[in-house]
This record gives sequence, structure tokens and C-alpha cells, in this order.
Amino acid sequence: MNDFKRYLVTSALPYANGLKHIGHLAGAYIPADIYVRYLRAQKRDVVFVCGSDEHGTAIPIQATKEHTTPRAIIDKYHEAMKQDFADLNISFDIYHRTSDPLHHETAQEFFTYLHERNELETKETEQFYDEATKTFLADRYIKGTCPNCGSDRAFGDQCENCGRSLSPDELINPVSTLSGQPPVKRKTTHWYLPLDRHEEFLRQWILEQHKDDWRPTVVGQCKSWIEGGLQPRAVTRDLDWGIKVPLKDAEGKVLYVWFDAPIGYISATRQWAMDNKRDWKPYWYEKDTKLVHFIGKDNIVFHCIIFPVMLKLHGNILPENVPANEFLNLEGDKMSTSRNWKLEMRDYINDFVKQENGGGQCVDMLRYYLTQIAPETKDSEFTWKGFQDAVNSELVSIFGNFVNRTFVLMHKLCGGKVPPFHNDIIDDTDKQLITDIASAKEKIESLIEQYKFREALYEVIDLSRKGNQYMQKKEPWILAKKLAENPAVQQQIDNSLHLCLQLTANLAIFIHPFLPSTAHTMLHMMKVVEKMLDWDNAGKMKLLSVGYSLREPRLLFRKIEDTEIAAQVEKLKAGLVKATTENTPTEATDNAPAPVKETIQFDDFAKIDLRVATITAAGKVPKADKLLQLEVDLGFEKRTIVSGIALHFAPEDIIGQQVVIVANLAPRKMRGIESNGMILMAEDKDGKLRFVSPAEAVASGSGVS
Ligand code: MF3
Ligand code: ZN
Repeated sequence: MNDFKRYLVTSALPYANGLKHIGHLAGAYIPADIYVRYLRAQKRDVVFVCGSDEHGTAIPIQATKEHTTPRAIIDKYHEAMKQDFADLNISFDIYHRTSDPLHHETAQEFFTYLHERNELETKETEQFYDEATKTFLADRYIKGTCPNCGSDRAFGDQCENCGRSLSPDELINPVSTLSGQPPVKRKTTHWYLPLDRHEEFLRQWILEQHKDDWRPTVVGQCKSWIEGGLQPRAVTRDLDWGIKVPLKDAEGKVLYVWFDAPIGYISATRQWAMDNKRDWKPYWYEKDTKLVHFIGKDNIVFHCIIFPVMLKLHGNILPENVPANEFLNLEGDKMSTSRNWKLEMRDYINDFVKQENGGGQCVDMLRYYLTQIAPETKDSEFTWKGFQDAVNSELVSIFGNFVNRTFVLMHKLCGGKVPPFHNDIIDDTDKQLITDIASAKEKIESLIEQYKFREALYEVIDLSRKGNQYMQKKEPWILAKKLAENPAVQQQIDNSLHLCLQLTANLAIFIHPFLPSTAHTMLHMMKVVEKMLDWDNAGKMKLLSVGYSLREPRLLFRKIEDTEIAAQVEKLKAGLVKATTENTPTEATDNAPAPVKETIQFDDFAKIDLRVATITAAGKVPKADKLLQLEVDLGFEKRTIVSGIALHFAPEDIIGQQVVIVANLAPRKMRGIESNGMILMAEDKDGKLRFVSPAEAVASGSGVS
């Protein structure tokens, strides 16, 4: 590895269609961040790039769901994701975005380069087309009846009811989701990347050259792709959201999102170089650059087969490794956006990080647990109990405890200064500890370089465990009791605390790539500068000079209480219950509000008589905890309305509130009371209700249209 002059590390560009969860974090971002921080500590030339993936049908689909434009969606989620990563100390050198003009230009050049060298093929096929809106329909834009389960809400790519993958041809009674009309087949021409021409190269490069240094699951997936027979892959689409195909006669065609997105790594590098007055080319063209892609397993084929073929044809370097992670489950079940069974990064940030002064401890607690359970070789599982155990019995009781004891005893028994080391009384226990520190360095290095972050972190904790054992053997606090009789024991006390302090300094270096904020707190306690964290210093026993006075200890980690994890489990379950009882059709993307109901004509709408009314009296309905009985004034008449809002509002708080009601709804009896109309409420995704009311007070009875 030392033959490489520079490193380019990438994390998968997340889709800007929703917030990302801890499964994403554990899969592609934390491991990359550990690796990069380690390389930086070694003073290597490294650039860490990422950014938002802002093309593909996922974006306009999300826009439809949120009743807004694709542009608004990408702006919103780009900023939100960027903030999430920053809050969790993921140290990208640049977080770029694929909507940036520099990226459009880079991706178009790339396409043109391949096209001009005849590395692409064109093919005419038939595709579904919506005549009403004059658009070709991506699979997701076609809806119909599932041939498998009969659900009438299946999409052209998948039935969300039974989970079956579909092609639009399989749908019974397909209709366009844009117009509601049945689509027709129409001819269209696209550009293809003929992967079949590159089979030999892929076999050689992956199945021979990298068969031992890439993860077995990665090689395995590639092998089955290659052996299954590589086919040409379309790299363009008929869509109006994306990067225009830079050719004449390519009206209405854009680059396929999986063609442009990985090129985003190059654009990001270019932007970074511009911002830092550096040259980007060596990072993508020189053989002494080590390119490493961190991804989740669902991205393997794109990063190991398709993008490498593109890179080869374009004259770029190839990745040295693609350490893909498996999936992270949550509390015994697959994470799922549609069932709301997930923990978003933002939720953890709000519930933990923002609750704490500075927040660094909580960031590190999550980074710790997600690394400790990283799904490196197989799927793994996040449980709140597991989180609590990892924090309380490893971070607090082992690592934190060792550092804290060392500082407390040093203040008590050595006057707050680094005590001298008396070489003449060194013993085997001391020697063993010194050896353990040196060998920890080698082990951690070798594990990180093999992308085994989980084991590397284990070695760090294990070294602190050895520190505790050393302390337990030396018992300086017992020795201190003998001082009065025998002042010479001070030398033994000095030695033990001297070594514990040097170990503490080493632990700061070792923990730094994993838990950066913890390492910085330790630096502060030791009153040393950032430079001490240079990896070269690891293994040394003279990091803190004799006589140097240190600060009082700070607690590095706090305990996680039972109540905290119980509350989180509750919250998770409540979210699930809500998602299932609402019974909205499930959708494939994050934060999905209920889809828009079927189109109605203006006449249908005009039948509804909406009026502003003022609540004049309110009271609970006996034996119905959800219902309030309201008297409302319509100006020309008074009405009684029964409304299911008792869990959200106290009767006394809503007197005088102006609301909008459906005034011509047929009367309905609820708990024996006749309700004459319905109050409109807005409900957010957490189920919180708010009144819909005119922005300024108007006369009761005013019409709403
Ligand atoms: N947006 C894709 C996903 O979330 C990942 C794109 S990675 C890139 O699965 F290489 F294409 F950028
Ligand atoms: Zn189905």
C-alpha cells in the first residue's frame, strides 16, 4: 500500500429524494471516514469525495409526492443530507452535487468521448408511451394490477403489496400515472454500453487479479454477473429530468442516472481541486493513485462492472478496492421506509446529539456502535439494547474508565503532573504493556488497510482493557498507603502512572479515526496539540513529557439509561403502527406522504361547500376519548359538529378558533349526537393535527374555494 502516492476515497452518492438512515451511514460513510482519517493521520495525500445524486426518476416521483418541483426536492434534500453528514463528523473534502453545471459538463464529455470512439451502440426498442402527456414512461410511472397478488396498485417495476419485481409488460390493465390513460408502445432509440465486449477484461481484472484482496461477497456477485452473460446496458433514457444527451437528434433524452452518478466522483474531485488550487487529473489518471469506493451491497454491479468499464474506456484508473457492506437490520427486522421501520440519521441527531452540549460524545457513541456491528461480512443488526450495552459496558466501563482512572490517580498521587519513569525498577508487567502498545499499532494498521474496521476498533478497546488490567495489577492507590512507612514506593507509583499516561496518549491516536471527537477531548485533557495524533507517534512511549501538568479529567462518555432506549423502541413501534393503520399504499422512497387521490373534475370539487366557521363552545363527549362536541357559528346559523380531535386539543383552548368546515356533508350520528359538517384538519407525518384556518380573521360563514 505504501507504493501509492495519493488516495482518492469515495462514498456512494446518496439520492436526494429523502433523508438517509443509519443503515446508509454504517454502510458507506462511517467506514470511509475511518479509512480517510487514518490516511490523513499518516500524512498521506488523500481526497475524500461525495455528493448528492440528483437525477433519475426517484426525484420527479418524490416531487409529485411532495407536490413540488424536482428542483425543490433536490435542493431540500441536498442541504439536509449535507447537514446530517456534517453533524456526524463525516469529513468529506467536498460534498458536491450532480445538478452542478460542472458535473453536467463532465458527464457529457465522458459520454461524448465514448461515443466518438464507437464504444457505445445504439438500439431501437419499443417502450411505453403516454400519448396524453407526450412522454415515454419510466417503469415506475406505470401502474396496474399485479399479476401475482392482484393488488391494483402495482408499479411497472415492482408491486409494493407483495414485493414482486415486475416489468411493465406484466401489469394487467396498465395505466400511466401521469394521465391515468392506458399507455401505448412506441419505438425509441437508445445508446448502450456493450458490456459483453469487455467480459475478458472483467474476468481478468476481478476474478483473477482481485480475487483475494476484494471481499468474497463482492467477488461473488461479480462472478455471477459475469457468468450469467454480460449484456449491453442502456445508458440513456427518455426523460426530461437529467443530463441531456449531448448529441443532435437526441431530443428528450437524458443520460441514465447510473451513467452520470459515478462520474459525479470525478466532478467532485474537479470542484475540490478548483477550490483548493490543485490539479485533479493525477487523481483520475495516474497509476500511483489508489482509488477506493465505499458502497452498500446493492451498488456492487455499478461500481465493480459498469463504472470500471466506463473508466477503462475513458482512459482512467480503476478502483483498487470496493469494500461493499451488507445490510443493517433494525430491532429484528429489515429497515423499510414504507413501513417506517428505520432510524434516520436526523432522528438520532435530534434525540441525542442536539440534546447534549457540543454533541461530540453522542456522535461518537453512534459511530462506535455502528462500527462495532458493521455489516462487513454479513447482514447485522442494530438494537437499542445493543447500543446501550456497547456504550455502557465498553465505552464507559472499559475505555472511558481507564482514561478517567489514570487522570484521577495522576492528580491524586503525582501532583497533576506526568511522573518520571524509573528505568531501574521496570518489571515484566511494564514491559508487557509496552509490547502490547507496539503490537496494537501493527494490528490496527494492518486491519484498517484490509478494511476490517470492526476488528481494528476491537483492538483499540482491547488495548484499553489491557490498561485496566495493568492498573489492577499495579494498584497504585494501595501502594500510596505504604508511602508513610516507605517513601521509595513513590517510584513504583510513578512508573505505573507514567505508563498509563503514555498509553492514554496512544489510545487517543488509535481512537482518532473512529471517534474523532473523543480523541480531541483527550488532547484537551493532556494539553497537547493536534499534531500529537500523527500516526507516526503511535507506539511511542514518550508522547507526554515528564513534569508536564495535565488538566482535570472529563468524562469521555456518559451512560445510556434504560428509559432512553425504551423511549426509542416505543417511538419505533409507534411509527410502525401508524404506518400500517393508515393503510396508505406503500411507496419506495423516503418520507412519502399519501399519494394523490384519483383525478376529479372541477364539477366534483364545486359540489363541496366549504365555509369558515368559528368555534363557540367545545366539550368532551362522554366515554369517547377521541371526540369533542363543538358548537360552531356560521354567521347565518349555528351547528353542532362532532370531531375526532380530543387527543390533540383541550376544549378550552379552541374557543374562538376559526376553522374551515364542509358545510354540506350529510348529517351523521356519533355517540348519539348528530354531527352537521366536518372540520378540515392538516395532519403532518407524525400524526400531529392543526386547524386549517384563514390567514386573517374573516366573517363567519365566508365561502372557501
Ligand atoms: N444514489 C445511489 C444509491 O443511493 C448511489 C449512487 S453511487 C454513484 O443507491 F456512484 F453512482 F454515485
Ligand atoms: Zn403483488
